[in-house]
Amino acid sequence: MEKPDILVIGGGGREHAIVHALKKSPRAGRIYCAPSNAGIDEEAEGVALAVSDFKGILAFLAGHPRIGLTFVAPDNPLADGLVNLLEEHGHRAFGPRAEAAVIEASKKFSKQLMKENHIPTAAYETFADYKKAEEYVLSAKYPLVVKADGLAYGKGVTICRHPAEALKALKDIMLDDVFGNHNPCVVIEEFLTGREVSVLAFTDGRTIKTMPSSQDHKRAYDGDKGPNTGGMGAFSPSPYYTPEMDAYAKEHIYLPTIEALNRMGRTFKGVIYFGLMMCADGIKVLEYNARFGDPETQAVLPLLKTDLLEIIDAVLDEKLDTLDIEWSDRTAVTVVYASGGYPGKYEKGLPVTIGDVGECYVYHAGTKLADGKIVTNGGRVLCVTALGNDIADARNKVYAALNNIRVEGGFYRTDIGLKE
Ligand code: AMP
Ligand code: GLY
Repeated sequence: MEKPDILVIGGGGREHAIVHALKKSPRAGRIYCAPSNAGIDEEAEGVALAVSDFKGILAFLAGHPRIGLTFVAPDNPLADGLVNLLEEHGHRAFGPRAEAAVIEASKKFSKQLMKENHIPTAAYETFADYKKAEEYVLSAKYPLVVKADGLAYGKGVTICRHPAEALKALKDIMLDDVFGNHNPCVVIEEFLTGREVSVLAFTDGRTIKTMPSSQDHKRAYDGDKGPNTGGMGAFSPSPYYTPEMDAYAKEHIYLPTIEALNRMGRTFKGVIYFGLMMCADGIKVLEYNARFGDPETQAVLPLLKTDLLEIIDAVLDEKLDTLDIEWSDRTAVTVVYASGGYPGKYEKGLPVTIGDVGECYVYHAGTKLADGKIVTNGGRVLCVTALGNDIADARNKVYAALNNIRVEGGFYRTDIGLKE
């Protein structure tokens, strides 16, 4: 199709970064985004559909025959088979099918895949029976890590220092279904120490091409204090992820993962995310995600020089091997401005003011327009990204921009990339 229109599914900072990158493509027609937000609305046409409204999405596509590509960004619709459904209806969709997205949606599945294929990861046990899990944590070595098997909005992992914490985590997942996914299964694994790094990659199931590495900051407050969040900031690339580590990970982690999925008839096409820990005895996988990370994407995509739509086409046409993907050699720092109270309860509808941000880019996450004014509409409100010659330079720029932005009652971490 000549210049296809595109529908992006999702409405956060990650989707704003994706829309912004697609907008630059000379190959793209009109861009729609469901459910969008106040910032995305300035670059794309917002569509009032929830990411879980598969029927509504199909109906929207039926009414918009010029849409030649649907980009499914968030984890839940991928796990629930939106790409499968779209393909069955003859639509071109970017993102893994459910049978491949399961590497994120089930930790039990991904741990087993790693074990069977000798992909380095933490030692673990899985339990579906509460009594057995309880017995295990009462006699285990600490710290240990309890993980909900299923999707849990990034909140399914608890690092436990003593049995009381482990018992609470087991009760939440196995007895009280606090994540509401009706999945009582848990993975209990060895606690790893080291530096974390995320590596995202495009893959068409045959070739895998990594993006610059990045590092998320998951805790709410400065100094890695406070509760776990969806992510409070990121930088890219990580100065600790060396070309030697990359070569090792390609051979022992990235390719074996893709090949194992192929052998199982679960070919992965899309963006695969490797959450890694650089341990004293080598790199190990903490988790897989089946999509672009949030907020890593807001740091990584601004470094992309190649047309994102050209990459998407190469993935869908299984021609990724023929494409040279170019990245800027600059460094990106992204800081998330969150609502007061996040990741706990927070108020919505509070004013957001964005002043002069220089060359920085402000990706909107939880915002909407009310009477023509931007107001808060979620826990993570804005993601501000600066590019610099190094982390210090990018940090200076991003925090200078943040001085001219205000989210009423909100907060952001002042130490994104500081240790580096
Ligand atoms: P996950 O959702 O599996 O990435 O876990 C969320 C966060 O929990 C990770 O980014 C790590 O900071 C931490 N984590 C997960 N698994 C482990 C582990 N085995 N050892 C230490 N930290 C872990
Ligand atoms: N920032 C981590 C994630 O997207 O899962």
